[in-house]
Amino acid sequence: MTRTALVTGGTRGIGAAISKKLQDEGFIVAVSYAGNSEAAAAFSRETGIEAYKWDVADYDASAAGIAQVEADIGPIDVVVANAGITRDAPFHKMTPEQWHQVIDTNLTGVFNTVHPIWPGMRERKFGRVIVISSVNGQKGQFAQVNYAATKAGDLGIVKSLAQEGARAGITANAVCPGYIATEMVMAVPEKVRDSIIAQIPTGRLGEPEEIARCVAFLASDDAQFINGSTISANGAQFFA
Ligand code: CAA
Ligand code: NAP
Repeated sequence: MTRTALVTGGTRGIGAAISKKLQDEGFIVAVSYAGNSEAAAAFSRETGIEAYKWDVADYDASAAGIAQVEADIGPIDVVVANAGITRDAPFHKMTPEQWHQVIDTNLTGVFNTVHPIWPGMRERKFGRVIVISSVNGQKGQFAQVNYAATKAGDLGIVKSLAQEGARAGITANAVCPGYIATEMVMAVPEKVRDSIIAQIPTGRLGEPEEIARCVAFLASDDAQFINGSTISANGAQFFA
């Protein structure tokens, strides 16, 4: 049976690796992005995967975008809530705007992504919800009160959804990547980044493909009994 998958923020970084891996595994994949149309076009050219533009922080835009995806590829079997941003600042310098941007995108964005898809999954008695959290949601991080709050919130979301979806054949799980070599991490000042890498026992950043393989497993039919779990992939930086 051919299954469908939607990956939010699927045109760059970890999301792009997830999308390609799911395509390799035989899924019909659609991706969304926020505004970097150049990166989205390059991704679609390379993969043949359609990219749809909407802001995950906007419920109505998410619902409309998802309805379009379902009209194009069919009901969504697997949703990967991956889109996310950082607005790092020590707490005493963090502005309400930085707080709200990150909460709206990373946390409310998960609600906005999963909520329109959930009723169809319940009706069809199958679904896979996979949320990309972070090691920093597990351990906290200097200058990331906003981000860590959202990523810890992701874990509460999947543990609750797991209980609600279990009898309808839906699983909800989180992946907590450590520091992965994408533009998000490359935006951290080099000196700070080097000091972070020094704290990773494996001695390097992770690769997006190493996260994609975790997601592909959770998305598979074989993973039915894994529900409400968190997979950590962080090079031994932190043990939850
Ligand atoms: N622990 C303790 N103290 C720290 C610290 C840490 N981890 N990091 C910085 N500090 C200290 C500095 O030594 C400095 O001290 P002094 O004032 O005594 O010199 C002070 O805190 C920094 O103050 P600044 O006023 O210089 O800070 P700033 O306003 O310029 O902000 C920063 C700098 C944004 C915090 C920058 O250090 C930074 O980007 N840090 C990285 C944060 C981080 O890890 N983000 C992760 C992004 S990737 C991601 O989020 C993906 C994922 O899920 C893993
Ligand atoms: P990235 O390289 O910055 O890519 C982010 C993707 O999300 C882009 O496709 C971007 O679209 C999209 N996006 C951002 N805001 C959006 C919005 N409001 N609406 C729709 N799409 C939006 O990030 P990444 O490093 O791959 O991170 C992906 C996820 O993994 C995030 O949730 C992040 O928090 C999490 N994570 C990352 C790391 C890491 O070390 N990199 C570690 C742990 C967890 P545009 O291209 O249009 O901007």
